[in-house]
Amino acid sequence: MKVRFLRLCAIGLALILPLSACTSGVSGKAETGKTLVLSLNQSEDHPSYIALADFGERLKAATDGRWDVKVYPNETLGAQQEVIQLVSDGSVDMAVASGTQLENLSPHFGVLNLPTTFKSIDHQMKVIRDPSIVGELFTSLEDSKHLTVLGGLTQGDRNLYTVTGPIKEPADLHGLKIRVQESDVHIDMINAMGGSATPMSYGEVYTALQSGVLDGAENNEISYMTQHHNEVAKYVARTRHLVGLDYMLINSETYNSMTPEDRKIFDAEWDETMKMHTQLWKQETAQAIDEAKATGTKFNDVDEAAFTKALAPVVKKYLKSPADHELYEAIQEANQ
Ligand code: GCU
Repeated sequence: MKVRFLRLCAIGLALILPLSACTSGVSGKAETGKTLVLSLNQSEDHPSYIALADFGERLKAATDGRWDVKVYPNETLGAQQEVIQLVSDGSVDMAVASGTQLENLSPHFGVLNLPTTFKSIDHQMKVIRDPSIVGELFTSLEDSKHLTVLGGLTQGDRNLYTVTGPIKEPADLHGLKIRVQESDVHIDMINAMGGSATPMSYGEVYTALQSGVLDGAENNEISYMTQHHNEVAKYVARTRHLVGLDYMLINSETYNSMTPEDRKIFDAEWDETMKMHTQLWKQETAQAIDEAKATGTKFNDVDEAAFTKALAPVVKKYLKSPADHELYEAIQEANQ
């Protein structure tokens, strides 16, 4: 109850403050500036919060205070699925949303959510910053949903972790309830890996692991530590089943309302943010692994060939249309 009340208050504040800071506010007209409300489901010690708070400061300085970003962390404005709707209707300006959520708006985004799509973080970021590969996809939600995808922030390698004991091969996951994001690709992925996929929003995972509703989850080491999942799930299996991706969404009308000069500054500062985040990600992943080990987490390697074999049909299933195949191939070529 209390959390819900606080969330409502935060949404209220988020919606009132920027309106008063906004000097034009009429969709479609050039705004002279405003404080953009940005929703994030991570805590303040997560690299995405740090990089985005810095984005706000740089944007404010570069536009002489006309444009600013206020980051609302910890799902204060809602879980990703709810917040995407708020960005779509313009009551929240920007949000970080996992690729799995966009797959629910357009199946083509599913191509970027598959195991094997990205070979590394650098490969992923090269693709995400290349409009010749992702330009069409990133503007594809503008007409129907008023959402523009500005680019992305890596989620790094995702691994499995469990409460019950070490996982070395698919058979070890038999009968275990493993949390996945709300995505068909990821439900099929965990089922193919041998587990029993249980979709759930990010903020609910800790309690579900603690209470035994879940036997495990999958995520990167940074989320594992910043969400304190290490306190309740002590076994991390280095499955590295995929390199995950978060997208930065902005309401298309808000984005189009910037003057050409301010839009140029905004785009440049955002591009800088993606680069900074990637650097920070690599440093903080190493740190998270050290901290996990120091607090009693047991890491183990897995039979990679067995998991790759189990996942191959999932990749095949979701490369449905010729357009999806083409996109997947263009992504692979970028890694040459
Ligand atoms: C990562 C990702 C989030 C996502 C989360 C999840 O932390 O950065 O955007 O919500 O995984 O597993 O739900």
